[in-house]
Amino acid sequence: MWIKRRKDWELPESAATPEHVYLNRRRFMQIAGGGAVIGAGALVLPQRMQAQTETPPDPTAELYPAAPNPEFAEAGRALTDEEVATTYNNFYEFGSHKQIWRAAQALPTRPWTVTFDGMVEEERTVDIDTLIRAMPLEERVYRHRCVEAWAMTVPWSGFPMAALVDYARPLSSARYVRMQTFEDAEVAPGQEQFWYPWPYTEGLTIAEATNEVAFMVTGLYGRPVPRQNGAPLRLAVPWKYGFKSAKSIVRFTFTDQQPLSFWENLAGNEYGFWANVNPEVPHPRWSQATERLIGTNDEVPTQIFNGYGEQVAHLYPDLSDERYFH
Ligand code: MTE
Repeated sequence: MWIKRRKDWELPESAATPEHVYLNRRRFMQIAGGGAVIGAGALVLPQRMQAQTETPPDPTAELYPAAPNPEFAEAGRALTDEEVATTYNNFYEFGSHKQIWRAAQALPTRPWTVTFDGMVEEERTVDIDTLIRAMPLEERVYRHRCVEAWAMTVPWSGFPMAALVDYARPLSSARYVRMQTFEDAEVAPGQEQFWYPWPYTEGLTIAEATNEVAFMVTGLYGRPVPRQNGAPLRLAVPWKYGFKSAKSIVRFTFTDQQPLSFWENLAGNEYGFWANVNPEVPHPRWSQATERLIGTNDEVPTQIFNGYGEQVAHLYPDLSDERYFH
């Protein structure tokens, strides 16, 4: 999903590499000031290994592996190799390419606080370990389908997002929850790239957030989740394209306004608020009919709602409305 301005002579949509994002012209002009050419491309950012912080061992490590939830004990596919799932990542805060896992080790994940604000009974900020210990931890095997047409199947640990919404005590008038990732360009050099609308934000309706499949992730493969996969707290909404699953979250804001998310803000013509997986609705520049299983040579058909339709299709009353699938 790197940013590049499309030129007329470039490949047609059908031949485009999915891992490219093109700025819409308006945003390009805004950020380029009308003159400069942004050679963002797959810009390899300085690896700040030396900035790696000596964070203490994860204080919740003894909670893993969490008990498997039998409802989600498998996802109809072989698990992705752990090394592949933890070394092939999207985390633009650390670079606009897939090999960010080393750079992400610079993120200090303790101390870490999470704020609940907006339309809640009472705004509060809690320490991540207090939050994790207050939640019913379990393990779920989920598929993950990136909008770039790659996919993985992994055992996440964490807790239902419904439990987090309960904990936050939103007002009944709140209709959405907006999630926000940390912001610290000192450790995350990608955040120095001013043309991105930092911080990374995402949003769900309250009905989506309290659906049984929406899951807050704190662990992966029976251990605390690694930084590159979104430590210490990320979202997993596997019926939606992967960009909805925000990483390293610090704030949940309850609101009655539909939140504007990071990618929607950057390229709203390509990435919408709903972003439900649908093989029949192509991305403007590539097909979504199939997906590549990372770590294998397999290319398999994509399923509507990434196979979670039974649990989530009722959230979207009019499935012929293409708006739900961008
Ligand atoms: N969250 C933040 N904060 N920054 C990101 O760049 N990338 C998203 C999502 N969450 C992203 C993010 C995208 S595009 C995908 S596909 C998934 O994270 C990738 O998750 P993984 O690296 O654990 O596979």
